[in-house]
Amino acid sequence: MNISKRVDAMQFSPIRKFNPMAIEAEKKGKKIYHLNIGQPDVETPECFMEAIRNFDEKVIAYAESGGRPELISAVIDYYKKYDIELEPSDMIVTNGGSEALSMSFLTLLNDGDEVLIPEPYYTNYSTFALMAGGVVKPIPADASKGYAYADKENIEACITPKTKVICCLEPGNPTGNILSLDEMKVICELAEKYDLAIIADEVYREFVYDGRTPVSFGQLSEYADRVIIVDSVSKRFSACGARIGLLISKNKEFMSGCMKIAQGRLCVSTVDQIGSAALFRLPDSYYDEAKAIYCGRRDAVVEELRKIPGMNVVVPAGAFYLTCALPVEDIEDFLTFLLTEFEDNGESVMFAPAAGFYATPGKGKNEIRIAYVLKEEDMRRGVELIRLGLEAYNKKLGK
Ligand SMILES: Cc1ncc(COP(=O)(O)O)c(C=O)c1O
Repeated sequence: MNISKRVDAMQFSPIRKFNPMAIEAEKKGKKIYHLNIGQPDVETPECFMEAIRNFDEKVIAYAESGGRPELISAVIDYYKKYDIELEPSDMIVTNGGSEALSMSFLTLLNDGDEVLIPEPYYTNYSTFALMAGGVVKPIPADASKGYAYADKENIEACITPKTKVICCLEPGNPTGNILSLDEMKVICELAEKYDLAIIADEVYREFVYDGRTPVSFGQLSEYADRVIIVDSVSKRFSACGARIGLLISKNKEFMSGCMKIAQGRLCVSTVDQIGSAALFRLPDSYYDEAKAIYCGRRDAVVEELRKIPGMNVVVPAGAFYLTCALPVEDIEDFLTFLLTEFEDNGESVMFAPAAGFYATPGKGKNEIRIAYVLKEEDMRRGVELIRLGLEAYNKKLGK
């Protein structure tokens, strides 16, 4: 049997790659703090389960390919808060934001087309682009500049005749970088100049800290025809397993292309759509509470990281991830050490090695991504274990 070149070129997710090692350690009785994956421990709001309990149709039937009407109408109402007016035909309910991304790339790309993304970026973008025959081209975004990337020259230097899409993860995973409305405008103007589509991945939209107001590319209505919004209930409502996402665009031709794929895969889970409709109707107080929780966790992580000598931490402005360099040469070797050799009172820790979040070979080799999705005391202990692990690792290396 031959495996396609397309799949051969893909990598395993750096977020999950070390799971087998962690499972082995756990089998031996070690407690592992999982800072590697964006799976929040925050409870899914009760209204999700309640809506499903009240669902009393006798057959779990296929839903419409574009999504169930009660979910679509709840999403339309939710977007009104951002002054974004949507019609039902402007959206397709998808299997998580992930399917919205793969559908978008399949609809937009031909073989060899280029997708621009600020680097480091959510690693599965490479997988989705490769699935569609495309290739990721990174826009440089440096830690020394707080991962800001949205200046005209920086982006323009990356555009080639093959560039078809620019992806903005807003707020960003894995750096927590956010864009201002002015920066979004710069991106839209470039998209207009070079006839590019913009994928605005806003799955963390509300999670912006320190008094910042959430914004959306959808608010720039003059560019609506080239903007594709990717959304999801996974992070916003701590409902990752519900697998409900959204693909939103005012571009009729694009939506019609995506609908062909949506009809091919029939539909998204009827039951999860029922629960998700209730989530989109939660009051603003829900967002305030969730945001306060993640902000507290962010501050705890930053405080603990700064106890590591020589650490340089870019404080994330949004989402719930932080990327930083550790004083080691090879992060994967250090992580292997943490999972197989190191323990402190029977505990160790796991993070995502950041090299897999870069398209540029050799970048991120000494960096990690931490997801601050666990309780504050667990986050503190997790980072403390990184610090203690570093001491033990350096001792082992004779440093
Ligand atoms: C930036 C970003 N986009 C999309 C996704 C996909 O999430 P889901 O498919 O669960 O909606 C993730 C998941 O971590 C993400 O971080």
